Amino acid sequence: MSKLLRGIVLAGGTGSRLYPLTKVTNKHLLPVGQYPMIYHPLMRLREAGIERVAVVTSPEHMGDVVNLLGSGQALGLDLTYRVQDQPGGIAQALGLCENFAGGHPFLVALGDNILEDNLIKEADIFRAQNTGARILLKAVHDPERYGVPRFEGDKVVEIKEKPEIPPSKYAVTGLYFYDAQVFDFIRTLSPSRRGEYEVSDLNSAYVHRSKLTYGILEGWWGDAGTLEGWHEANKLARDLVYDELNSQEPMAS
Ligand code: DAU
Repeated sequence: MSKLLRGIVLAGGTGSRLYPLTKVTNKHLLPVGQYPMIYHPLMRLREAGIERVAVVTSPEHMGDVVNLLGSGQALGLDLTYRVQDQPGGIAQALGLCENFAGGHPFLVALGDNILEDNLIKEADIFRAQNTGARILLKAVHDPERYGVPRFEGDKVVEIKEKPEIPPSKYAVTGLYFYDAQVFDFIRTLSPSRRGEYEVSDLNSAYVHRSKLTYGILEGWWGDAGTLEGWHEANKLARDLVYDELNSQEPMAS
């Protein structure tokens, strides 16, 4: 069984939907509950036993992200950084991490996804699956804002990015398990109409090869990338505390 020791947190993009909050800072450094937004996906990875994490962000904000996270030691992580020169989409950002993955499977978390559940059980399921991909779904009232799966029976047969007429009530959350073949699939993608290399197209590559499984998140989940989503995430995560970070005291001034 493969160990699944690596993770990737994507924190690039423009943050334009949160402007002017993001005029001088990166979206993922804004507060959500008691922590900077990016702590949430990072701590969920760590809880799942993943300590070697690559963080991808834009050149403009890499300095601030490194100032916040450093080597990762204070968070119990071993961090690597990758610069995404232009915000060309989630799949493009992921493609920068091929050397980091080193041929091993890994877990990707979008830096603006906040969730109540830990990922321990799901990581174990993917460790046992060992190849292919696994996505995590959540029933939502506004699936048209997300990647949405279409089902035949209980099988996912297609994933559509932000469809006008959603084929199901599920959002594909920003938590993805992949084997190293993902990098071959990324090389086959073309930009979408909005000019991005889409993660939904990437997941569809696995669907077409019958190599995609899915789980359903039990607890609440939020995408803090819009003003409404950010406010909602702040409400949900208000009392969320990661024990691993509890013992940390701010440095005396
Ligand atoms: O939150 C789940 C949704 O996230 C999925 O259901 C969608 O399928 C997926 O496309 C994505 O949709 P968004 O519209 O929320 O994507 P956004 O552009 O906000 O990017 C999500 C994260 O990915 C964000 O935290 C930063 C990172 N990112 C994004 C882009 C476009 C990068 O690192 N580089 C990029 O070029």
